[in-house]
Amino acid sequence: MARIVGALTTSHVPAIGRAIAKNLQQDPYWKPFFDGWAPVHHWLAETRPDVAVVIYNDHGLNFFLDKMPTFAVGAAATYRNADEGWGLPELPPFPGELDLSWHLIESLVGEDFDLTTCQEMVVDHAFTLPLALMVPSQAWPLKVVPVCINTVQLPLPSARRCYALGEAIGRAVNSWPGDQRVVIVGTGGLSHQLDGERAGFINKDFDLAFMRSLVHEPRWATQFDTRALVEQAGTQGVELLMWLAARATLGERVQQLHRNYHIPISNTASGLMLMASAG
Ligand code: DHB
Ligand code: FE
Repeated sequence: MARIVGALTTSHVPAIGRAIAKNLQQDPYWKPFFDGWAPVHHWLAETRPDVAVVIYNDHGLNFFLDKMPTFAVGAAATYRNADEGWGLPELPPFPGELDLSWHLIESLVGEDFDLTTCQEMVVDHAFTLPLALMVPSQAWPLKVVPVCINTVQLPLPSARRCYALGEAIGRAVNSWPGDQRVVIVGTGGLSHQLDGERAGFINKDFDLAFMRSLVHEPRWATQFDTRALVEQAGTQGVELLMWLAARATLGERVQQLHRNYHIPISNTASGLMLMASAG
């Protein structure tokens, strides 16, 4: 059976894409952020995953407010990004892992998750930037399956539901016939608020407690409803639900392989974690 080799969770600020395009990795503002990825690159070179299941939130590129699925899974042969207005370049297309897409869709619907299935799907910065950070050459050595969770338009799925989705994704991947190595990527957060009276809001104490909880008490964040999450993490900080779903794929016990936390990148507390199942 396929095996989940680890879960990688990261923020996905568009400014990262501009920094990559301009080769600013050694710039004093960017260096502490990009340096945080070196251990991940070592781990990827050692682990050589075949597939990335990318749990992310679309921000209006593929889904707009008129049609907003709570959970959507891509089932396309390739995925491209497109102009979102941030001035980010188009990246080489991402090859889809169609067989895992359909296995995931059948497993999740079989477990009573009501999904939207997307045989055509454009992917936004929340998907492309973490991949570009993982693979600086942009010669994608792995195939992808996008899993999209709505954090843009209320009502949002609860933290409890996102955790359950992650557990179900874990079961689905672990029952996929073959010997593929799968990395789960969760992108979003950490605390940030881009608009309104609290624009610029960052909650370091909450972010650090959340990151710690993923290792030691993974269901900790499920105590918060959407309103409480917004209070604690900001309107866009709810994107940390992607981290929660990615963590839940690993089962009960994990070991932390790497972690970086850096404030701010743009308006966002930028975090990075790499975890693997500890049985
Ligand atoms: C920023 C952060 C995000 O998560 C996002 O999707 C867009 C912008 C930011 O901090 O600039
Ligand atoms: Fe975002």
